[in-house]
Formats: sequence, C-alpha cells, structure tokens
Amino acid sequence: MIASVKGTRDLLPPETRVFSLVESIARETFALYGFDEIRTPHLELTELFVRSVGASSDIVHKEMYSFTTKGGQDVTLRPENTAGVARAYVEHRMAQSGFARKLYYLGAQFRYERPQEGRYREFRQIGAEAIGPADPATDAELLVMLFDFLTRLGFEGLTVALNTVVEKLGEDDRRRLTQNPLRVLDTKDPALAGLIAGAPRMLELLDEESLRHHEELLGPLDAAGIPYRIEPRLVRGLDYYTRTVFEVTASGLGAQDAILGGGRYDRLVSDLGGPKVPGIGFAIGEDRLVAAAPEAFRRAAVEATDAVALIALESADRADALALASELRRAGVAVDLDPSGRGPGPGLKSAEKRGARLAVLLGGRERENGMVVVKELATRSQRTVPRAELLDALKRGQP
Ligand code: HAM
Repeated sequence: MIASVKGTRDLLPPETRVFSLVESIARETFALYGFDEIRTPHLELTELFVRSVGASSDIVHKEMYSFTTKGGQDVTLRPENTAGVARAYVEHRMAQSGFARKLYYLGAQFRYERPQEGRYREFRQIGAEAIGPADPATDAELLVMLFDFLTRLGFEGLTVALNTVVEKLGEDDRRRLTQNPLRVLDTKDPALAGLIAGAPRMLELLDEESLRHHEELLGPLDAAGIPYRIEPRLVRGLDYYTRTVFEVTASGLGAQDAILGGGRYDRLVSDLGGPKVPGIGFAIGEDRLVAAAPEAFRRAAVEATDAVALIALESADRADALALASELRRAGVAVDLDPSGRGPGPGLKSAEKRGARLAVLLGGRERENGMVVVKELATRSQRTVPRAELLDALKRGQP
C-alpha cells in the first residue's frame, strides 16, 4: 500500500460536502461585497516569497517547499497567496483595470511545518485582498465582510484580535525590529512571559498618522457591531504588514487555534516593482474553519446534498428506473440510482450505508399500476404513491 505523504490528507465524503458548502458561501458572500475571484499558480519563483513574506520569517526560513527545476529555476510551492496576488497585480498592470481592486481566492497552500492536529503541510486557504484603497473604512469593510461570512456559517462569539504594527521606523529598523524582538512576542513559551510583559506596546510607538488610521478604523467597527479587542502583543509571522493586523481564534482547536489572519500591506505592491498602492487582506485556514464549524452547519451541509436512493427491484425494472431517475433529476432532485435489481434487501442496506434518508422502490407490481414505494429509512415507514405525486412526496421529504 502506498500511503499519502506526511502532512497531507485526503478529504473524503461526507466531509467534502462541508468544504463545498463553505466554499460556495464564501463565493456568494464575497460577491456581495464586489469581490472577484483570482486564481494564481501553485508554483512561484522562490524570490517572490523571499521579497514579500520575508527572509527572516519562519515561513521563508524553514517552511518552504523549494526546489530547482530541470531548467535551473528556483521555484517554491506557494506557502500563502497574498504574494502571488500582488505579483499578478503588478505583472498584469491591474492598477489600470477596473476589475483589479477586490480579489478573493480559494486554494491549497504548502508549508513544511511539523504536522499536528489543525496543522498540515498541505492546507487550504480562503482569502481576500483589497488592493488600492488606503482608508480605514476599507479595513473596516473587509472585517464586516469576514464576519458576515462567519455568521452565515453559524459561528457565534468570535472576536477579532486587532493591533497595528509600528511604521514610524525606517525600513531597515523595521526589519531589524521584526527580525528578532517582535518574533519573541509571538512565543508560546511561558518562561518568556515576563520578558514579554515588559516589552513596549506597539500602540505607544506609533506615529500620528498610523494612530489616526487605527482610531478611524474603530468607529466603523463599533457601528457595524464587529466584536474586537485591541491586542497590543499581536504580531504576525509575515514581513509585509504595515499598520492594521488582525487574527481570529476559535476555541476547541487545540494549540492551533488561529482560524484566520490578515492585515494591511501598504508597501508590498511597490516592493514588488509595482505602483505605490496600498492593500489589505485576510486568509482563513479552511481546514481549521471546517473543524471549528458549528455542528448544526456541518449537519446541514451533509444533509443538504443527500440523494434519494432509487432502487430497481428486479432487472426488468432497470429501464424504467433509469427513465424515472432522469425525470427526477430534471426536476432538481438528486438521485442515487441502484439499477442492480438485487431485490429490496441489499438495495436498502447499501442506501442506508451511504446515508440516504429516503428510498424509492420500483418493482414490477407497482410499475404496472403506475405506483412507487417511498420509504423513510430511519423509521422504516413507507407509502405507495402514484408516480404523479412522487415529486411532491420527495420535496416534502416524507413518504
Ligand atoms: P497566515 O496567518 O500565515 O496568513 O495564515 C492564515 C491562516 O491559514 C491561519 O490563521 C491558519 O488558519 C491557516 N494556516 C496557516 N498555516 C497552516 C497549516 N500549516 N495548516 C493549516 N492551516 C494553516 C497568511 O497566509 C496571509 N497571506 C494572510 C493575509 C492575506 N494577509 C493579508 N492578506
């Protein structure tokens, strides 16, 4: 047997139904805010991540899947998607296009981290980037969109941890400052807690303009009812951030409790050779989001896509069953057809195993009378209904 690679995993049904529903709700929600989808390659030049995520970050330092191609290029499987989006923005001169400003993406990312629960080497992100607008109202709207999305999944009681990172210092100082001391703030080691308590708070170091940006963000957040708390110790593991940074954590996920992170990156596009346009975005860890999703949402996702089991009782019923299946599918009913004609016992047993709720049995006697049997698998209650009423019965969800 050949097993999957360490840190990667297969997503199987019915879990994939939860992922699919999450993804379609993300698309729907982001479209309501005027976002368009972007798809960038999984493979980028290594230099892109060195120059954006940063040479001193853990990601670039030790977590990248990098290799040299047969043609001698140094490439990397993307560890995140913001850099790729910014690269595409510059490469396609998207600043000149009306479609450019608000982009979302869904897809796999790769980091060579130590796998544990909620942490994988291949994982999925759902992210959004607003490139162009610099005002704090954009930051606020992005967070409103994020909470709109999380609320649609049934999440309750989540809070954004919000901070703003120091900008006053020059780029070299900023790099030096982020290279070591700030990373220390990120530690989970209790022995360092005392040291951290004495560290300067970011907000006290801010220049006036950044402080104004920070304060002007809070008004719209209050007005929109977005639950947040200022977290002066919040730092992010990527180098491109300026000003606003945020994270949302969920309980019950163990040590890996950040379901999403994001922030403003006002220099990233110009650092990559593009125009001086600011940006802000977030990425949700889809694997963690699905793991933390409320049980009611998960159940709804699994049940919503349940197909009706249509069982041909005898081989003579096959053709008729095929025709009935087509008829039902045209009416929008999902049908899992069992044309084997093995009789009711095996047909029902395998329908039950697949999690079907309702079964339709098509057999010789009923067929002659234009009838079918509709059966609820959990209760074993059943009714013989005329074919003409079948659709109604199925839509009612009862025999
Ligand atoms: P990040 O904080 O590195 O930010 O990742 C965002 C989210 O991806 C995390 O909060 C987590 O839920 C998920 N994640 C990260 N690593 C793993 C892993 N190994 N296994 C499972 N889930 C993981 C970024 O990636 C930025 N690009 C976010 C951003 C967008 N900032 C501005 N725009």
